[in-house]
Amino acid sequence: MVNGVEIGIIGGSGLYSLLDDAEEIDLATPYGPPSDKIALGRIGDRSVAFIPRHGRGHVHPPHRIPYRANLWALRSLGVRQVLAPNAVGSLRPELGPGALVIPDQLVDRTSGRPQTYYDTGCAVHVSFADPYCPAGRATAVATAREAGWNTVDGGTLVVIEGPRFSTRAESRWFSAAGWSIIGMTGHPEAVLARELALCYTSMSLVTDHDAGVEAGEGVTHEEVLAFFAANVERMRALVGSVAEALPIERDCACGKVLDGVKLPFELP
Ligand code: ADE
Repeated sequence: MVNGVEIGIIGGSGLYSLLDDAEEIDLATPYGPPSDKIALGRIGDRSVAFIPRHGRGHVHPPHRIPYRANLWALRSLGVRQVLAPNAVGSLRPELGPGALVIPDQLVDRTSGRPQTYYDTGCAVHVSFADPYCPAGRATAVATAREAGWNTVDGGTLVVIEGPRFSTRAESRWFSAAGWSIIGMTGHPEAVLARELALCYTSMSLVTDHDAGVEAGEGVTHEEVLAFFAANVERMRALVGSVAEALPIERDCACGKVLDGVKLPFELP
């Protein structure tokens, strides 16, 4: 069994080639298999595990991604830092495609997704007031700025159930609430990472303006995929640089969230 992997990356399958000397492994978890084979390799002197969130060939739609298996698998490999590159729509006119948002808040508008490990026979309630790791966020912001990205430090990511995009009315409502970006995969990924005491940092690439922001037909899946594909090289380079810059020694609260809590099982 592999162990001692430092950093986990959950992202688009275009990021597979991030890793040097990669080998691929199958890993079973109590929650079934992860999205796909896990690639293990190195970025600089960091050991890294990569999971393609939607699986190769994009076989898992956002509401069916095996989120629990993915995070469990990463923790069982030794990972404590998770980077989560993802595509999002913008809810603000001034925030256009190509911007990189490192959100500091999240609103859950999903429904029916398994979103906890602590389901029966226990009372575990993790703190989630600040859903993202402050140290990971600071590293991502500094690294992206240094690399010349139009970087937004903070903002609220609203996560919808999908797989459909929002109506114009929903989108206007989300904008009016002051939220800045919209996606389909940020929840329950972030909370499951927290439930396993992992550091989790979202790196959200704006691919489109959501339906309520601009007149027109609204966003299409082709638009999102095409924009992401056109930016995959840049994104790959950035994710690699952030992985190299992340602190391995953790002094944030993420790792202490379960201290003193009676757990129903041992963490992997
Ligand atoms: N992912 C990328 N763009 C999106 C949008 N506009 N709404 C939801 N998820 C998205």
